Amino acid sequence: MRLGRWLFFDKRLSRDGTISCATCHQPEYAFSQTTRVATGIAGGKGKRKVPTIINLAVPLRWSNFKDVPAGAFFWDGRARSLEEQALEPIANPTEMGSTHTTMIDTLTRIRSYAAYFTEAFGAPGITKERIAQAVADYVRTLVVTLVLTDGSRSLTRTR
Ligand code: HEC
Repeated sequence: MRLGRWLFFDKRLSRDGTISCATCHQPEYAFSQTTRVATGIAGGKGKRKVPTIINLAVPLRWSNFKDVPAGAFFWDGRARSLEEQALEPIANPTEMGSTHTTMIDTLTRIRSYAAYFTEAFGAPGITKERIAQAVADYVRTLVVTLVLTDGSRSLTRTR
């Protein structure tokens, strides 16, 4: 989890070291962004709005769109797990613009990461699958619970 958090905020995962997950999914805006479409590497504009990524750990997430299966991710449901989802922006040419091989090379060169991978997985080794798992586990921790401090009255009030 600590590893996932480091990766989420680490701009070195992008091709030129300027973009991290958090550049678009900004903690101060519920891990979203205020602009109409995303701005990625070298100022490149995406086609879609950055969605909030809070509460994605809840297993049964219904879909607003009839072609998107429940529990799938992205506006069009193309990722079936948070692990699958996590690898996409890194290699997306208008988001972080890197490749998975380059990302692994970069993380291998940053010496402090080796220890974090060992700590998280119980054995050394930096792989694409482990990066995906660590980032996805971090995203699953972003959960907000609504607590009605005045009982259920606010839900039942009729006028
Ligand atoms: C350049 C901006 C940008 C970056 C960088 C970026 N994202 Fe996203 N993210 C988006 C946009 C835009 C979407 C919606 C895209 C779509 O649905 O096609 C999205 C969608 C998602 C979703 C799916 C949300 C849902 O409800 O289906 C998750 C989870 C997510 N991003 C996590 C990440 C993680 C983890 C990283 C880093 C590895 C990352 N993002 C990097 C812009 C970005």
